[in-house]
Amino acid sequence: MNAKSTVRAYWDKRSQTYDTTVYKSQVEAKQFWKTVLHGAIRTDKNLNILDVGTGTGFLALIFAEMGHNVTGIDISKHMLEKSRNNASKLGLTLNLMHGDAENLPFEDETFDIVINRYLLWTMPNPGCAVDEWRRVVKSGGKILLIDGNWYDSTVIMRFRRLFGSIIAFITEKKNPFTFMGYYARIKDQLPFFNGSTPGDIANLFAGAGLKNVSVNNLEKLREFENKNTSLSYKVSNTPSLFMALGEK
Ligand SMILES: C[S@@+](CC[C@H](N)C(=O)[O-])C[C@H]1O[C@@H](n2cnc3c(N)ncnc32)[C@H](O)[C@@H]1O
Repeated sequence: MNAKSTVRAYWDKRSQTYDTTVYKSQVEAKQFWKTVLHGAIRTDKNLNILDVGTGTGFLALIFAEMGHNVTGIDISKHMLEKSRNNASKLGLTLNLMHGDAENLPFEDETFDIVINRYLLWTMPNPGCAVDEWRRVVKSGGKILLIDGNWYDSTVIMRFRRLFGSIIAFITEKKNPFTFMGYYARIKDQLPFFNGSTPGDIANLFAGAGLKNVSVNNLEKLREFENKNTSLSYKVSNTPSLFMALGEK
């Protein structure tokens, strides 16, 4: 299996637990994120938004609730299935498509904004991905990326990840070996597998020719997550989260 097939197979499997193992309350999390995202796009106009690596539709559904017209694309059909169910439960409409975020099936300059959350670390060609996102954004449109520095290699964090996976096994029946079972084979092909820094993303955006690039730490979100994520997640992850914005 090549890297993309492995990524697809992992996320097909992970779709079974993705929505249940991070936030204690999806409703509270969405409310918090809505404030963060509204502050970032700073408009009440209805926009045409593309969410790449939409997963179960976390960001896509928030923007749809805010009244935007949202398309979500993902490499995993099972994640998309969850997203479809989530949209239907909320009475929202998403335009969902199966496809590759590095090779998008859209005309140039189709969207006002391309958004993504926690995607870059699992991309073999992050530079090509950003070029592709820039291609489908209208002139003057934006790319909004949310990510974090996921893999802290200090001894304490290695120990915490081990401990967190034991908790997840007991409380969520989540197999601690599944993730590395897939990703150990391909991690060397993923430049940001260990996470990215604000500086990495600023360089990536500038390299793709984006203007007015800004990268801001999401400290308030981190504080919110410290209180509102599941115990296993909290023990295993302490990423400093950031939001990057760039304009075409
Ligand atoms: C960590 S999840 C994030 C999901 C969602 N963005 C969120 O914030 O909850 C990563 C998602 O990216 C998708 N993905 C990974 N590589 C992709 C690619 N090349 N093209 C499209 N989707 C991809 C996975 O299937 C998965 O749904």
